[in-house]
Amino acid sequence: MTDMPDTVIVYPIGPDGLRGSVRVPGDKSISHRAFLLGSLATGEVTITGAARSADVRATVTVVRALGATVAEVEGVARVKGPLHEPDDVLDCGNAGTALRLLAGVCAGVEGISVLTGDASLRQRPMGRVVEPLRQMGAGVTGRGGGTLAPLVVQGGSLTAIDYRPPVPSAQVKSCVLLAGLRAVGTTRVREVSPTRDHTERMLAWMDADTGVDGNGAWVRPGPLTPRDIDVPADPSSAAFWLCAAAALPGSQVHLPDVCLNPTRTRVLDVLARMGAPHSVTAERSACGEPVGDVTMSYAEPLGQAGVAGEETVAVIDELLALAVAGAIGGGLEVRDAAELRVKESDRIDGVDRILAAVGGRVAQRADGFSVAPGIQRAAATNRLDAGGDHRVAMAGAIAALAASQPVTITGFAAVATSYPTFLADLERLGGRWEAP
Ligand code: S3P
Repeated sequence: MTDMPDTVIVYPIGPDGLRGSVRVPGDKSISHRAFLLGSLATGEVTITGAARSADVRATVTVVRALGATVAEVEGVARVKGPLHEPDDVLDCGNAGTALRLLAGVCAGVEGISVLTGDASLRQRPMGRVVEPLRQMGAGVTGRGGGTLAPLVVQGGSLTAIDYRPPVPSAQVKSCVLLAGLRAVGTTRVREVSPTRDHTERMLAWMDADTGVDGNGAWVRPGPLTPRDIDVPADPSSAAFWLCAAAALPGSQVHLPDVCLNPTRTRVLDVLARMGAPHSVTAERSACGEPVGDVTMSYAEPLGQAGVAGEETVAVIDELLALAVAGAIGGGLEVRDAAELRVKESDRIDGVDRILAAVGGRVAQRADGFSVAPGIQRAAATNRLDAGGDHRVAMAGAIAALAASQPVTITGFAAVATSYPTFLADLERLGGRWEAP
């Protein structure tokens, strides 16, 4: 579905930096939810602007296998349920969001569903969704005593629970709330650290019996009104250009239609603390989400910043791009980020590999890392293996812009997971790359 090369050479950027305007792909988190909630609605839901990335394609394939019809014409998708027991295994590819949210959906579908994914996804922790679904009465088993995919979900009647996830995770919260749509009683999720709230917003947008109060998010069973969904641009994809523009002298990037949900925009706060303010114009809303056009211009050499606690949870997907900005600028200290070790790859190790490629220095800890200021030509290996992780590959590419020699990145095809148009956008902003 994409011609993304697996090996690319990315060249250092010139003195003018990155300049121009790119519309990054539709938000991955919202796109997954649009297809899932769309297929649970009482009629047809039209989705525009959804990401066409491999992760979201996996969700589309799975909801089709569960009986939904998905008709797609020129970027507009029409989704219609109902869902029923699938007649084959459901392959979520590399998409943790797909598998964990689908576990909650399948718990409410009569019959057996088997959820699996690629080698990376089959290593990622699944006990965190198995445990609450079992508490709700779903029969869920899985490899490794129910801790790893493939998961076998016996769907049927469910009972509401009041749940406090042991790790802050929007995927776990969403899994429980989606199962709650089919459970008797009021299902509630109480979070220690707030996570992205797209599921709550989309449930409300589709008139579910739902709400958020001082004790967390709750939902009661009931129909979902088929209301159309217009997916804004993904702030986690935008983060690569925001961090690069903040760090590279001469840059100015304009990013239209970015989702400005406050659970997703803390990367802008961190960059502002480093000394790179942004501006927002054309603020509006789309399907219950705030949206706006963001401009980031290079202002001055970036200063040091620290990220910890709730902020770490909120910028978990942007930490690799921030680490690169920190290395080009005044350094970055990250704490409370143990979750980074169980993403698509071990991303704390990923920071180390990215910075080694360009001559940066980082000290790893079990649950965080310290990036030292500055990158040094003599120390650069000029090579990075992205290890099958899309965000490691893209963070490597923006690091290469600041390097003094071209950087060869292998395993780059993983970028199709979330941002199939990344290389075209890099060129559009003045970056240069080639496939050897
Ligand atoms: C996501 C939640 C986060 C995030 C992931 C997408 C979502 O994962 O890292 O990229 O769409 O709910 P966790 O819930 O595991 O923190």
